[in-house]
Amino acid sequence: MSASRLAALLLIACGAAAQNYENSRAVEAIGGEPAALLANITTPALGLPAMQLPADNPPTEAKIALGRKLFFDRRLSFNRTLSCAMCHIPEQGFAQVELQTPVGIEGRFVKRNAPTLLNVGYRPSLFHDGRESTLEQQVWQPLLKTNEMANPSIGFVLATIRKAGDYGGLFEAAFDQGLTMETVGMALASYQRALVAGDSAFDRWYFGKQNDALSAEAQRGWMLFQVKDCVRCHQVGTQAAHFTDEQFHDTGIGYAASMGIRQQAETVRLAPGVEVVPTVSFARPEANDLGRYEATGHSEDRWKYRTPSLRNVALTPPYMHNGSLPDLMAVVEYYAAGGVPHAGQDGRVRPLALTDADKRALVVFMKSLTGQDVRDLVRDARSERIGN
Ligand code: HEC
Ligand code: HEC
Repeated sequence: MSASRLAALLLIACGAAAQNYENSRAVEAIGGEPAALLANITTPALGLPAMQLPADNPPTEAKIALGRKLFFDRRLSFNRTLSCAMCHIPEQGFAQVELQTPVGIEGRFVKRNAPTLLNVGYRPSLFHDGRESTLEQQVWQPLLKTNEMANPSIGFVLATIRKAGDYGGLFEAAFDQGLTMETVGMALASYQRALVAGDSAFDRWYFGKQNDALSAEAQRGWMLFQVKDCVRCHQVGTQAAHFTDEQFHDTGIGYAASMGIRQQAETVRLAPGVEVVPTVSFARPEANDLGRYEATGHSEDRWKYRTPSLRNVALTPPYMHNGSLPDLMAVVEYYAAGGVPHAGQDGRVRPLALTDADKRALVVFMKSLTGQDVRDLVRDARSERIGN
């Protein structure tokens, strides 16, 4: 049994006893405080540019609030157990740190790591393979996929919302056209655009010119990040930085998975921080994943994945599209070793001369990219009522 199956079974076992949202009520007890979400979109955080907004869906307070309600609503999955927020967990960088790949409805397997939704409003293409381009459209993939929220149709989702009782008037207040397929996407997109997290220690030092904002070690890490070519793909501009070129590259991770090459000793994570190395193999066969090729059908796109932004990266282990690297040091070790050399691998991924101190400095630098504003977003998320 693989680690993710084991975790799935545990989740199902717990879920059976919690049909009436007892667990969610416990989460709700954490409490929270609404944040000025609309201002997150309209006033760029330090280090981030003005966000390009779709002309037909300008953000409003009403749309954002409605989107947040939908985001946390477990009734939007076929068996009323799974919300968007359960794979994009606010406390876990709006990603999922406890599993390499998330568990879908009824414990079903999902082949890729859940990416962070922080700053997702800036992404010109969505998913690890870039197969979707707008947040408005994107929502229907998790809502309808049989291994995620598994709704049988769009109409089914609209009927669920209509019948829910507590949405009365909210769609009408936010949109002239009321509840439609489009407005579900527009509301969820508006909330997600507000998940902006800039203003990190690095931003205050680099863009804010605050000399003491970044430790000497992190500054050395930044220097290495440039001379070792990391910055050529994880780009930084003169006015703002996304730490991505928004392009697709073969770094060897997808190739390694397809060829069954493992980067790490096999560990099974029982709980955060509790890992065991089993004496028998728990390995599942690797999921078939050809990356960008799956979106374009072009053979040269095989095993290419979108360069992820490194903003807030410290919050969202494990790393890479399949969650195969457990922490930032493992990522640095992976690059230092030159990836997994093969014909398609990007030439900039090559063996790097890095001392142990250099590697630590790179990790410290990446940890300095966590936005000060993330805490407010988490508290805001937890001000939402969950379960009804
Ligand atoms: C079962 C877990 C799961 C659920 C539930 C889920 N997601 Fe995701 N989400 C993922 C995974 C995994 C990916 C990456 C998939 C890929 O790249 O093929 C993803 C990707 C995304 C992305 C793209 C992010 C990026 O940087 O490209 C967005 C946006 C998103 N999800 C929003 C949502 C919304 C909104 C909902 C609820 C309607 C939702 N998700 C429900 C697991 C989930
Ligand atoms: C050729 C472009 C390229 C170069 C050079 C590059 N990266 Fe990456 N990086 C990527 C891509 C593409 C991914 C995603 C791979 C995947 O999902 O399988 C990635 C993933 C990562 C991740 C994981 C992020 C996450 O959320 O999973 C980290 C951390 C990272 N790179 C840091 C670095 C560092 C540090 C360097 C320099 C030593 C570097 N990168 C050099 C393109 C690059």
